[in-house]
Amino acid sequence: MIPPSEAASWAREYPRPVRVAAVASHSALDTFDGAVTEGFPTLALCQEGRDRTYTQYFRTRRGPGGQRIRGCVDDVRVFSQFKDLLQEGTLSELRSQGAVLVPNRALTSYLDVTEVEEKLRLPLLGSRGLLRIEERTERENYYTLLARAGIPTPEEVKDPRQIGSLTLVKLPHARKRLERGFFTCASFEEYQRKSETLTRMGVTRPEDLARARMERYVLGPVFNLNFFFSPLAPREEALELLGIDERRESSLDGLVRLPAEEQLELPSSDRIPEYTVVGHGSLTLRESLLEEAFRLGERFVNAARESHPPGVVGPFCLQTCVDKDQNFFVFDVAVRLGGGTNIHMALGHPYGNTLWREPMSSARRLARELARALEEDRLASVVT
Ligand SMILES: Nc1ncnc2c1ncn2[C@@H]1O[C@H](COP(=O)(O)OP(=O)(O)O)[C@@H](O)[C@H]1O
Ligand SMILES: [Mg+2]
Repeated sequence: MIPPSEAASWAREYPRPVRVAAVASHSALDTFDGAVTEGFPTLALCQEGRDRTYTQYFRTRRGPGGQRIRGCVDDVRVFSQFKDLLQEGTLSELRSQGAVLVPNRALTSYLDVTEVEEKLRLPLLGSRGLLRIEERTERENYYTLLARAGIPTPEEVKDPRQIGSLTLVKLPHARKRLERGFFTCASFEEYQRKSETLTRMGVTRPEDLARARMERYVLGPVFNLNFFFSPLAPREEALELLGIDERRESSLDGLVRLPAEEQLELPSSDRIPEYTVVGHGSLTLRESLLEEAFRLGERFVNAARESHPPGVVGPFCLQTCVDKDQNFFVFDVAVRLGGGTNIHMALGHPYGNTLWREPMSSARRLARELARALEEDRLASVVT
């Protein structure tokens, strides 16, 4: 692991203003929008062929006085593939341009986590040492951390023969490896039938089925709690809830918008939903549940600090379902900007705005933390 002290020392030597950089996908627009709002120049690290959102449509245009007229992507670097980011020549050039990188899921999807830990010699504004816990197949992962933190998760089903109630089987998609090949079943017989059908359809692979996470399907809405933890604030003010999002998943969301009769008319290949995230919506939480949400966040932060010092830096997301007795179950964790924070762009979010008395998105909050760290000479507390 690149030591946090080393990452901080690069950033300390940087020319000012430092630049906020992100791999150009996932939540990068939120990152750039938040950074320019707080006065930082931005840098998008794009892959050729999927760069026009950044190189064209959201690119900054300035007026004659240098003032920003439109857009939030000030500079771009286009790579023929994201892996090229790891070349030492590229990294030292990015350091000489003062790039502080905001980690997102695209970073750890297009690079290996080990490469991010060992080779990505750029200061990360976030928790480098916690990124690995998101990998479900790791021995030390978010499930072990949630268990240590005493945070409820949907009960695991260890063997498909033990399936006795509605269960979600979690595995990667057979062809679209970064997407999901999830399915539900309520008995061993249904598990066998569906897994055979899905394998035939090219959605699941037998070797992934053998390693799949199986857990109780929680009947209730999904709330992705977008928290922020400030290492610079007094501890009692350090945890903030900024916003809540939910995912739009295809084909699941299309299926549930059909009346039952029309669902039953679908060909069998369309009746088993897929869970590919294709968009996000904004939510609020019943007010009496907020305190429990904060309790979960506090427990997570404390457990993460103990097991992976220095622990959480900045944004993190607990993905939860709430059941009919108003119990939260955390089924997934992102120790970085969550995938749904674009819902906060520019407008902020009811909770972030209520706290800060101005529009406060996740990435704006992160940029503000960076500004404070620079001003107070405390970079070592926020970069890793
Ligand atoms: N235990 C569960 N009960 C009900 N729905 C779940 C459960 N776990 C996950 N989901 C649904 O599946 C989606 C993806 O699950 P998640 O574990 O977040 O996968 P990924 O790691 O691919 O993001 C969630 O957004 C939610 O809609
Ligand atoms: Mg998830």
